[in-house]
Amino acid sequence: MTEAKKLYVKTYGCQMNVYDSERMAEALGAQGYAQVDTAEAADMILLNTCHIREKAVEKVYSDLGRLRPLHDAKPDLKIAVAGCVAQAEGAEILRRQPMVDLVVGPQTYHRLPMMMDAVGRGERVLDTEFPQEDKFAHLPKDRRATRGPTAFLTAQEGCDKFCSFCVVPYTRGAEVSRPAERLLREARDLIERGVREITLLGQNVNAYHGAGSDGSEWGFARLIREMAKIDGLDRIRYTTSHPNDMEDDLIAAHGDCDKLMPYLHLPVQSGSDSILKAMNRKHTADSYIRLIERIRTVRPDLLLSGDFIVGFPGETEADFQATLDLVATVGYGAAYSFKYSPRPGTPAAERAMVDPAEADDRLQRLQALVTAQQHATQDAMIGRVVRVLFEKPGRMPGQITGKSEYLHAVHADGPLGLVGQIAPVEIIASQNNSLTGRLIG
Ligand code: 5AD
Ligand code: SF4
Repeated sequence: MTEAKKLYVKTYGCQMNVYDSERMAEALGAQGYAQVDTAEAADMILLNTCHIREKAVEKVYSDLGRLRPLHDAKPDLKIAVAGCVAQAEGAEILRRQPMVDLVVGPQTYHRLPMMMDAVGRGERVLDTEFPQEDKFAHLPKDRRATRGPTAFLTAQEGCDKFCSFCVVPYTRGAEVSRPAERLLREARDLIERGVREITLLGQNVNAYHGAGSDGSEWGFARLIREMAKIDGLDRIRYTTSHPNDMEDDLIAAHGDCDKLMPYLHLPVQSGSDSILKAMNRKHTADSYIRLIERIRTVRPDLLLSGDFIVGFPGETEADFQATLDLVATVGYGAAYSFKYSPRPGTPAAERAMVDPAEADDRLQRLQALVTAQQHATQDAMIGRVVRVLFEKPGRMPGQITGKSEYLHAVHADGPLGLVGQIAPVEIIASQNNSLTGRLIG
């Protein structure tokens, strides 16, 4: 038997890239590649890149530069660049980095086996098309790269919203929902492999409208309800969502679907209506706040998380204050705030930038507020009993770690046999980004 060729994958960016990396590893697995944990051990290196914010392209080129000595020592080493930087830069990568063999966008990686044949013949390959065919229909059906009790599952991809700052509609393309039957099948396969929690993914996952198993079109709530019927699946989450796609039935599901976890990532980006308008968000601060109230009416313990951009072109101090006010009103359990970075090809990139020192200062002030909210939310968990799905050994000997319903990382002393199980835990302390608990019962 010949020894398996070794593949090292480095994933940048969002959870969908984590999912795509697994699927690419599975496609290459069918070509005889087995995954390894270091670039040094690899016969092939795959960088799955992200283009969402600043310096993404520079980071990829500098990471490629750092692979040079490895490539010099092992001239047969294959190097592939995938993901959104591959999509955006295309042939430029092959031109600037002669050691790169393959550039593949997010919509064509099901063709990897064919591309690798060409690479094997000494060709350099570029494929950044947006093809007609569904890549998922052409990928290996069994999800063998999945390890552990939690998994991602892409339900929807691409975005038609065109927020004026965002590169996603250009790198990932138009919104496409996968047929429900395929998603349910993939979910069942994941459950057979020991998965108990599935996070449904999409750039706009709550805009899901796919072909249902009964021939009708299913919205996102219907998909969640059908997933919830799968025996052995205990927890469902989803990310990421647009406020305008929170339809009534989805809100209702937060109240009546037990398997849907009480955590929602619902980015608002800004609390200023004029900035929201300039961002092409098509909602106001007030409509967002009312929406949150409706969801909390059906699920009062919902933990809310969000994304914010500060220093968007034209943002004044008063606009920024409106963002702080919105954060204070809503109350987030977790939040991600970013300094605006102009993305080539997006409408906002043409506009005058806010003074960088001012933008830095706003970012710090916003982060101070959301960090305080996060810590207050965590502190409020002390004394409460949560149910933790244990995922792996903890950092300390004798500890195991997992996630609560609210997606808090929780460590507790306990037997490794609990990994893959859900157990009740009393929270006894809160750290920076995690909670400590005590197993009960
Ligand atoms: N600049 C800064 N942040 C951005 N995001 C998306 N595009 C940009 C940009 N050009 C942020 C948004 C989005 C998150 C995934 O990344 O907050 O919700
Ligand atoms: Fe980007 Fe999200 Fe807006 Fe789509 S909805 S353009 S992915 S920020």
